[in-house]
Amino acid sequence: MKFGVPELEDLPDVSGKSVLVRVDFNVPIKGGVITDDLRIRAALPTLAWLTERGAKVTCATHLGRPKGAPDPAFSVEPVRARLAELAPGVELLENVRFNPGETSNDPAFVQELIAGHDFYVNDAFGASHREHASIVGPPQFLPSAAGRLLAKEVEVLGGLRNDPARPFIAITGGSKVSDKLGVIEAMLEIADGVIIGGGMCFTFLAALGHSVGNSLFEADQVDNCKRLLDAHGDRLHLPTDIVVTNGKLFEPEAGGEVRHVGRSVPEGYMGVDIGPESAGTFAEIILGARTVLWNGPMGVFEDPRFEAGTRAVAEAVAETKGFSVIGGGDSAAAIAQFGLAAEVDHVSTGGGASLELIEKGDLPGLKALRGASNG
Ligand code: 3PG
Ligand code: MG
Repeated sequence: MKFGVPELEDLPDVSGKSVLVRVDFNVPIKGGVITDDLRIRAALPTLAWLTERGAKVTCATHLGRPKGAPDPAFSVEPVRARLAELAPGVELLENVRFNPGETSNDPAFVQELIAGHDFYVNDAFGASHREHASIVGPPQFLPSAAGRLLAKEVEVLGGLRNDPARPFIAITGGSKVSDKLGVIEAMLEIADGVIIGGGMCFTFLAALGHSVGNSLFEADQVDNCKRLLDAHGDRLHLPTDIVVTNGKLFEPEAGGEVRHVGRSVPEGYMGVDIGPESAGTFAEIILGARTVLWNGPMGVFEDPRFEAGTRAVAEAVAETKGFSVIGGGDSAAAIAQFGLAAEVDHVSTGGGASLELIEKGDLPGLKALRGASNG
């Protein structure tokens, strides 16, 4: 039991019992083909632990965001096929979000989910920030536990809040300051330095008086950025140069110029990546750290013309001798795109969940497990 959350060993004997396992098999699927099965493979240790001990295992997951009704576009069928290869004999229920009671946390849907099951295991780290029926409902009624993946994620990400080796450098990017303000503030509490890149850096640069051209920019966040810069400016690292374009993202054939400028983005241009000087500075800071947490790309890395800054950060995170953690979502996709996932100590399977755990130190799914009869 870590963080007060019951683990698999805290369940009664599972032999011959029916165990409902909430997993997060919300994997990317294109044209019916799974493009990254990390989230399925990440649940295998839990599924193996249960089946090796003679349990009958039924998994439940959400997939995408259907509107509370069956929708073939969000069927779990491709996931079921992959699971059958990786964990033969383990069943998978249809997408829990086909029932409107999932997201509304309807007690009747909770009863439907737990019917016929003896125990409940939550291994759906990526969905544990959701107060949804399949996450918070079953522990009220069944002896429950965190699966191996959930326990590991909590140990690593929760551990960053407790006693990280220093210096601890957090790197954050992505498009919106408004989405990440809370987590930036939390990182400023726990980390020694915070590197900021990606679309969100332009609102910070605007707060310093720079022009942002057509870059992503949130006018209503300028005051928040100013406040953070005033209070912690010496520990907030912003890019000193920017790659800008007046062309179109993902359409190199549409023409337009790609230029490298200082901190001010010229009129008619959009900032799309950090520049080489910033990439070098950031890499140096990361290489000197003993703990690194990376969440959010430095630019539009999905367009190969603008991947250099994100790649430089990914390489430094992979190379650092410090303990390296990648928050889920876009930075996990980036580290995989660059073939460096195996070089980092922990790649989280949760995007929103990893941010919320770092920001708040707890998640609804963990609270629910603590409340279980065996918790
Ligand atoms: C994710 O992909 O971040 C998780 O599976 C949660 O999905 P959601 O944001 O649709 O709740
Ligand atoms: Mg390393």
